[in-house]
Amino acid sequence: MPVHIASQYTTRHHHSNIKYIRQYTNSLLLELGLADREVGILLTDDQEIAKLNAKYRDKNSPTNVLAFPFSYEHSNEIAAFPHQQLGDLVISTDTASEEAIKYKQSISYRMCWLITHGVLHLHGYDHERSSEDERLMQAKEQELLNKLFHERSHTMPQLAINVDHVSTLRQARGGSEPDPILAASICELAGASGIVVHLREDRRHIQDSDVYLLRKTVKTKLNLEMGANPEIIDIALDVVPDMITLVPEKRQELTTEGGLDVISQQKKLAKVVKKFNKANIPVSIFVDPDLDQIRASHDIGAKFVEIHTGRYCDAESEEIQNQEFELIASAADEAYQLGLVVNGGHGLDYHNTGRIASLDAMEELSIGHAVISRAVFTGLEKAVKDMLDIIRHGTMQIY
Ligand code: PXP
Repeated sequence: MPVHIASQYTTRHHHSNIKYIRQYTNSLLLELGLADREVGILLTDDQEIAKLNAKYRDKNSPTNVLAFPFSYEHSNEIAAFPHQQLGDLVISTDTASEEAIKYKQSISYRMCWLITHGVLHLHGYDHERSSEDERLMQAKEQELLNKLFHERSHTMPQLAINVDHVSTLRQARGGSEPDPILAASICELAGASGIVVHLREDRRHIQDSDVYLLRKTVKTKLNLEMGANPEIIDIALDVVPDMITLVPEKRQELTTEGGLDVISQQKKLAKVVKKFNKANIPVSIFVDPDLDQIRASHDIGAKFVEIHTGRYCDAESEEIQNQEFELIASAADEAYQLGLVVNGGHGLDYHNTGRIASLDAMEELSIGHAVISRAVFTGLEKAVKDMLDIIRHGTMQIY
């Protein structure tokens, strides 16, 4: 039951997630006994849907969804068409967003409502035929949505913990406590999906021996963060972590300051990515929420991008934070549509993570400082679990 989805974003960025739309439509077709049928969905804007509404329905205004059932009568080449096409839907994401606000629904719910409505039309339901038909269609829509729509289950990213700052504390005294290797194991036991460490050129926290030991002990996924410098590249190729994340690195900075400028060093970085791809080590690129940087990361062969959430986290007003959030959401959508796995991180804490975690395209969040800081007071296991609660439920559970 292939679901073909195309999008034309012309007037407004929106964050309806293609992955979830496809998943939902597949479940819908299965539930309706139409598992062998094909559906095309075009996501467009008010201007485009208004043209189609005028052309096919003589109505001079935009609408939310148009359904075009596949008609064999109108095809002279029946043999050329496999007999499984159900039809096409065109959805205006402009109207969907407005309706979501008007009805106080999430954009994901509104999109799924429109898809349900459209697919039922393709299947022969028609609320305009009679009031009985209207009642029947509405009841079916609600039944399907109640059964198939899950507000957050599709939006739940995983949590990778960066244990650099356990080593920062260790290095303060130059001894062996606290141990980042033990910390990594506790994080994994608490539910983290991966461990991240940044082997810096100046070795201010994580040491080479930590990376080699973690390679042996980490059971989930070891993500080695690094600058693209030859010495660290050689170590990474020797350690073979489960993935690497390329970041810009400056000796004077307290922490990674901005995303990697892929565009200005495309050739050099393409060579580095190629080296890692050849060694079967997938590469993630840490980039600002900038569509051109995302596209350049894809062009040089990266499999992942980690979108820098720092500006969103540091925003000094709600307005700026909203603007930064929009940039992250658009960048995540763009990356997802290019086929990249989308991660996010930097500066995330117990207050600002929920919103980022609700982005459908987000696969994993990389969080360090906030979790390690909280662990001083609550213990590491609880600090990780509290963050997982925020990611999964939007809030912390009270135990
Ligand atoms: N992602 C990247 C690429 C980073 O450089 C860092 C900081 O080491 C993080 C995530 C984690 O940031 P924070 O410690 O602010 O959670």
